[in-house]
Amino acid sequence: MSEGNGGSRPEPEEVPVEVEEAAAVQEHREEVLEHAGAALEVGGPEDHLLLAQDMVAGYVPGVNILNGCTLTLSEGEVVAIIGPNGAGKSTLIKTIFGLIPVREGSLTLRGSSIAGLPAHGLVERGVGYVPQTRNVFPSLTIEENLQMGAFLRPKSFAERFAVVSDLFPLLGKRRRAKAGSLSGGERQMVAMGRALMMDPSVLLLDEPTAGLSPIYQEEVFQRVKEVNSTGVSVVMVEQNARRCLQICDRGYVLDQGRNAYTGTGRDLLNDSNVVELYLGTLAKA
Ligand SMILES: Nc1ncnc2c1ncn2[C@@H]1O[C@H](COP(=O)(O)OP(=O)(O)OP(=O)(O)O)[C@@H](O)[C@H]1O
Ligand SMILES: [Mg+2]
Repeated sequence: MSEGNGGSRPEPEEVPVEVEEAAAVQEHREEVLEHAGAALEVGGPEDHLLLAQDMVAGYVPGVNILNGCTLTLSEGEVVAIIGPNGAGKSTLIKTIFGLIPVREGSLTLRGSSIAGLPAHGLVERGVGYVPQTRNVFPSLTIEENLQMGAFLRPKSFAERFAVVSDLFPLLGKRRRAKAGSLSGGERQMVAMGRALMMDPSVLLLDEPTAGLSPIYQEEVFQRVKEVNSTGVSVVMVEQNARRCLQICDRGYVLDQGRNAYTGTGRDLLNDSNVVELYLGTLAKA
């Protein structure tokens, strides 16, 4: 039986509930970002091991990806950066490591500006970086990958190799295995081990658990804690936001290149807005 005009006019399409809810989440995020625009009060450069303050940076001239982003790291901390895809998390880490120029704002390590320094200058000053992708040389052995990590101080190779393979026994046991033959989790150990070869005091990790099985993810988190307990301060971007907030000291929620929320891992996990906007299933949209 037809209704109205005999069924020739299509029924207006109903917007699925999930789409409506995702749109509401997005709208709420925009509101949060408007109010989060005010600069975070963080004290001065001498108060922090690492201070990135109101940083503006981007890849293409005239297009900013970081829109005034602030992050601090104190001696001995593990600090997490979480946020939606495309929020600028990797960009923030890359800017800190000197791979992208700082357009505005300041960047200091132990009170001295590191803005404009090239990456090897950062390595010399005790900063290690593990990129999100392509972070090992697959055609080289584990040992050769670690040699690349020690390229600025080749004489310290044996000593550092002993320390690093103590932390990651796999690296010593399988030193002659090609990195390309390893599982994703094992490669992450090689990548972290490589960054630790220069004995850094700050380690920047970009999504070290991405693509790993839950067991390996947990192993990576435990290794990060172990590395931290040896005195290395850590900034880590994480896709497994809940677990990361459980193990970190403090976290930053980044959205559209801005600070949306900041607090201790526990505070962020208990903040209903953070849960709704960034940790729930809809928050993945
Ligand atoms: N090399 C590049 N050139 C130009 N734009 C880029 C480049 N890399 C990233 N972008 C852009 O910068 C924005 C932020 O990217 P970024 O990789 O920092 O996000 P992210 O938060 O790390 O995301 P994900 O969770 O997917 O890793 C995105 O809009 C992205 O398209
Ligand atoms: Mg990224």
